[in-house]
Amino acid sequence: MAIPTETVYGLAANALDPDAVAKIFRAKGRPQDNPLIVHISEFEQLSPLVSEIPESAKILADRFWPGPLTMVLNRSELVPPSVSAGLSTVAVRFPKNPVARAIITACGLPLAAPSANLSGSPSPTTAEHCIRDLEGRVDAIVISGPCTVGLESTVVALFSDTPRLLRPGAVTAEQLKDALGKLTVDPAVTAKPEEGKPVASPGMKYKHYAPKTHVILIDSSREEYINYVNAHLSDGVFALCFQEDEDRIAAPTVLYGSEADGASQAAGLFAALRQLDDLGAKIAYAHAPSLSGMGLAVYNRLIRAAAFEVVKLP
Ligand code: TXA
Ligand code: MG
Repeated sequence: MAIPTETVYGLAANALDPDAVAKIFRAKGRPQDNPLIVHISEFEQLSPLVSEIPESAKILADRFWPGPLTMVLNRSELVPPSVSAGLSTVAVRFPKNPVARAIITACGLPLAAPSANLSGSPSPTTAEHCIRDLEGRVDAIVISGPCTVGLESTVVALFSDTPRLLRPGAVTAEQLKDALGKLTVDPAVTAKPEEGKPVASPGMKYKHYAPKTHVILIDSSREEYINYVNAHLSDGVFALCFQEDEDRIAAPTVLYGSEADGASQAAGLFAALRQLDDLGAKIAYAHAPSLSGMGLAVYNRLIRAAAFEVVKLP
């Protein structure tokens, strides 16, 4: 069933039952090689799922759980291999959203839950998005409010010596580095993974979060961005931009937060991508966020929505 979390809605089932897990892949049309995150509602539920809990995981749990952080650790025998798409690791998250926690606790089980969208479309940040993607394909959709964070959790791998950021989110790279003293940022966070090479986080290799609209990311100052869009006007051209950009843009706009506030961009991005499709946009020129703080997570999702098509202006 689809359930709310503070990041995005998740499509949840018993993580310990391979049949239930198979139904998640089927309902989403998800590639079999893309592993799922296992959700818990108490720290004590972690140890049966993993072969050991390293010191780094204790530090991060202490600071950031419950919350939008997923840790990848070595998997125990209890977790069916299909949850992890055959990897020897498992991704675990302890969400903060009280509805999510109440549901996990009522089940008395860890719940595997990817985002509750059809594979390839933007992640759902409202119950309405889940209904549109999954009605008739799942047993139930829990109707709750919009997700407060709006982007999926930060994913960090802790099973080798150096912690590695696989997917940026609301727990920022800066915060992880501060807590752990060191952090490697996987190259797939800000660039297209090389064709044919294995990726640390399989989810990062897919063209993802993609609306039907052709999104092109414009990495530039506000002045350059506005000039670029105004020089490329035609039927079906939209600007996916910050509220500060809006006044001087001659194309129709879809806003995704404020340039100065990464959290507002995160909260607005996926709904904005879906809105472009609803409005029949053919091309959307997106104004790229800065790469610091939550901006890194927003940028990571936007380059995938744009299938890595970026115009960098001086
Ligand atoms: O915020 C979230 O994390 C949401 C909510 C529902 O909790 N869930 C979510 O799940 O975003 P999903 O399936 O859309 O994304 C899971 C990501 C994928 O990029 C996947 O490749 C990665 O986590 N992942 C899962 N298990 C992994 C593992 N064992 N090793 C490396 N990456 C893993
Ligand atoms: Mg997803």
